[in-house]
Amino acid sequence: MKILVTGGAGYIASHTNVELLNAGYEVVVLDNLCNSSEESIRRVEKLTGKKITFYKIDMIDKEAMDAMFKKEKPDAVIHFAGLKAVGESCEYPLMYFNNNLIGTLNLLSVMDKYAVRKLVFSSSATVYGFQTKMPINEEASLSATNPYGRTKLMIEDMLRDIYKADNSWDIAILRYFNPIGAHISGEIGEDPKGIPNNLVPYIAKVAIGELEKVHVFGNDYNTPDGTGVRDYIHVVDLALGHIKAIEKLNENPGLVTYNLGTGQGYSVLELIKSYEKACGKTIPYVIDARRPGDCDMVYSDPSKAKAELGWEATRGVEQMCEDSWRWQSKNPNGYRGC
Ligand code: NAD
Ligand code: UD1
Repeated sequence: MKILVTGGAGYIASHTNVELLNAGYEVVVLDNLCNSSEESIRRVEKLTGKKITFYKIDMIDKEAMDAMFKKEKPDAVIHFAGLKAVGESCEYPLMYFNNNLIGTLNLLSVMDKYAVRKLVFSSSATVYGFQTKMPINEEASLSATNPYGRTKLMIEDMLRDIYKADNSWDIAILRYFNPIGAHISGEIGEDPKGIPNNLVPYIAKVAIGELEKVHVFGNDYNTPDGTGVRDYIHVVDLALGHIKAIEKLNENPGLVTYNLGTGQGYSVLELIKSYEKACGKTIPYVIDARRPGDCDMVYSDPSKAKAELGWEATRGVEQMCEDSWRWQSKNPNGYRGC
């Protein structure tokens, strides 16, 4: 079975590509490399001993996508491509709407034209907006709190409308909680450009000595130690969820939606402690003001994915930090300079 992976050079996609190739799928990658490097594709090929067909295409370029579909005729698409930084989306909403919405619209039109109607979509826990009841299951109310989140919610709504109009589509919407960690080899991992916005990549840069200290955004939350609690999930567990989702699509389920999380929350301070253990160094930190828009606690109810996909996360927070550190220490400059 041939899978087109959009955004296939990125962080989550590169780990998914490893699992797809190991499971015997053929992988075609489309990426404009705006937030990634072709080196990740080469590393996945090296890790698996298998080839990836790569197209450097921007999803805004519908003709180029059309020509690629005509040539490759994929059986299904995993759609990772998109911009994902919340702060940047508040500053440049038009850029986010154009890239994420128009890009996805182009993809869906081309898929429909070539009758490729099997899709796995990368959604996010951000579509749940602010929730007070934990854990969050798939029935919780949906809302957006920033332009990035709005693009995820709008794409989900588009997919629900498309399915309603034509139920020959099979669509799996996957709502990720907080992916961290890296492949156990240390060959692929998260390679953020500039100063990281997210906690674990920031801790990793402090551990390697590139940044001075972690800024803990608030210690007066309604959580056991006062710092924010999130549902961190190992990126390899997340990748394996995509394999299960593709298997599900082959049963023609229609449109299905799953949380991919562990169901367990960890605080910022717990994460720092765990990372210290993994890297054998002290991670300096200071307590700063809360980051606007953050909430105290977010964690998933992942039981639907377990019941219907036969998937559950098995890697704990210690392994997430150990694997993150292996990637960071082996590749202090990420893929740059390769
Ligand atoms: P990433 O930035 O590493 O990967 C996204 C890839 O898409 C990049 O390689 C980028 O170059 C590519 N891309 C962006 N716009 C494109 C376009 N117009 N045409 C072609 N390629 C384009 O991000 P990631 O962390 O691997 O995230 C993958 C997906 O998962 C995204 O849709 C993201 O919103 C979603 N997601 C991520 C997280 C997270 O914390 N990492 C959480 C929830 C959801
Ligand atoms: C962020 C995004 C969310 C996205 C998710 C995916 C924001 C506001 N939200 O969520 O849309 O779906 O990533 O993983 O960006 N923290 C610090 N110091 C830091 C960075 C973070 O203390 O330097 C804290 C935060 O306050 C939070 C926790 O660490 O409590 C996790 O933060 P982060 O990694 O940015 O993820 P989220 O905010 O959960």
